[in-house]
Amino acid sequence: MTNDIERILLSEEEIEEQVARVGRRITEDFRDKNPIFVGVLKGCFIFMADLMLHVDIKCTMDFMAISSYAGTSSTGAVKINKDLGQDIEGRHVIIVEDILDSGVTLSYLKQFLLGRKPASITIATLLDKPARRRSDIVADYSCFEVPDAFVVGYGLDYNEHYRNLPYIGVLKPEIYS
Ligand code: IMP
Ligand code: MG
Repeated sequence: MTNDIERILLSEEEIEEQVARVGRRITEDFRDKNPIFVGVLKGCFIFMADLMLHVDIKCTMDFMAISSYAGTSSTGAVKINKDLGQDIEGRHVIIVEDILDSGVTLSYLKQFLLGRKPASITIATLLDKPARRRSDIVADYSCFEVPDAFVVGYGLDYNEHYRNLPYIGVLKPEIYS
């Protein structure tokens, strides 16, 4: 598996440090607000687990699974494969994502959740790839800004593989070309 990685972009130690920093900031900003963390599956699963261990406030967690409609990604339409089990009306929602790339998925999700009348919606992302942004969405909390390269590991996949790498690596171009 590691033979498919061109270079390590973010080490385990760097990730741990930044995830802890964001967890502490969320702790300060959402004290007494009982937020609900909404993880976007599957890419969020490792980030969300590590992040939550650094969030020291009363809160709840839930997950959604979404995917882009094939062939209509330019419209920004996404399909909800798994919806929330908790009501978010009046709640402070914190969306937890692996990577903010074009932003199409998150802007759709944000609009979708706003329809349920939450008190607020905040976005926490592990990675931010601003070079490819196609919508005006911004991350409220971001651990790292990354260059325009395809990255895998720490939850992020290429064709469902590499999610279990403990670091974030750049995939060798010959793997996906
Ligand atoms: P967006 O709608 O373009 O922002 O898409 C975001 C989604 O695309 C993320 O949740 C990832 O699943 C996927 N994605 C975008 N860039 C990468 C990458 O470099 N590696 C792995 N997945 C990526
Ligand atoms: Mg994803």
